[in-house]
Amino acid sequence: MAKDIRLDKYVAESAGITRKDAKAALSKGRVRVNGQVVKNGDGKISDTDEVTLDGKSLSAEEFLYLMLHKPAGVVSATEDGRDKTVLDLVREQSAEAADEAGETGYFLGKREVFPVGRLDKDTEGLLLLTDDGELAHQLLSPKKHVDKVYFARLSGEVPADAAERFAEGIQVGQDYKALPAELEVLSVQDGVSEVHITLREGKFHQVKRMCHEIGCEVTYLKRISMGNLVLDEVLLPGKCRKLTAEEIALLKA
Ligand code: URA
Repeated sequence: MAKDIRLDKYVAESAGITRKDAKAALSKGRVRVNGQVVKNGDGKISDTDEVTLDGKSLSAEEFLYLMLHKPAGVVSATEDGRDKTVLDLVREQSAEAADEAGETGYFLGKREVFPVGRLDKDTEGLLLLTDDGELAHQLLSPKKHVDKVYFARLSGEVPADAAERFAEGIQVGQDYKALPAELEVLSVQDGVSEVHITLREGKFHQVKRMCHEIGCEVTYLKRISMGNLVLDEVLLPGKCRKLTAEEIALLKA
């Protein structure tokens, strides 16, 4: 269950006005909570409270878009009987963090966000969560070929023809031939290779399986971008924030 949120913060966010303007609207008696005028924005409201500004119901933005820096050890699910989920992380940071985080804080309320695609339990990095099913579909549709860029550390030296094989489309076991992908070698040292890999599809364990095909095993994997959305390196593993308006526009472009 999401935590409560300060009234002035809620009014500002849901009406798309500054916190200062929200406070001014409150002090002028323009805001009602469950029908009663409330002038002090310090109080907290919860999911079930009905808030109006000038008589109009304030529902927050139509959709919520969150960037999570997924840490290793949590699963990309909304619920799991055993492991901590990405949704647990998102819930923990709702609302109270919003007050501290300013623009990029968020209030989950009754919203049901879900992860757009999956990262393995041991994979870190960019995970988008939203309740915008249409956008999720656009990003995940195999027909759209949205680029996903990963940083991977591999045990083994990447063979000389690896980038060419990735570009041609690697046969993965008996299962499928991968779409053409990019492999850029960043470094090779003492039997450890570091690479950037760009995929345009998202099959189960795909990076790991493709690397296995070239004789290397993934020991560390991190997604750094999806389409035009790049992981904010200021966001520490486990931390989540709302996308900025620019990021949302880029994602939809
Ligand atoms: N490929 C993988 O093997 N694992 C991930 O988590 C993502 C892509």
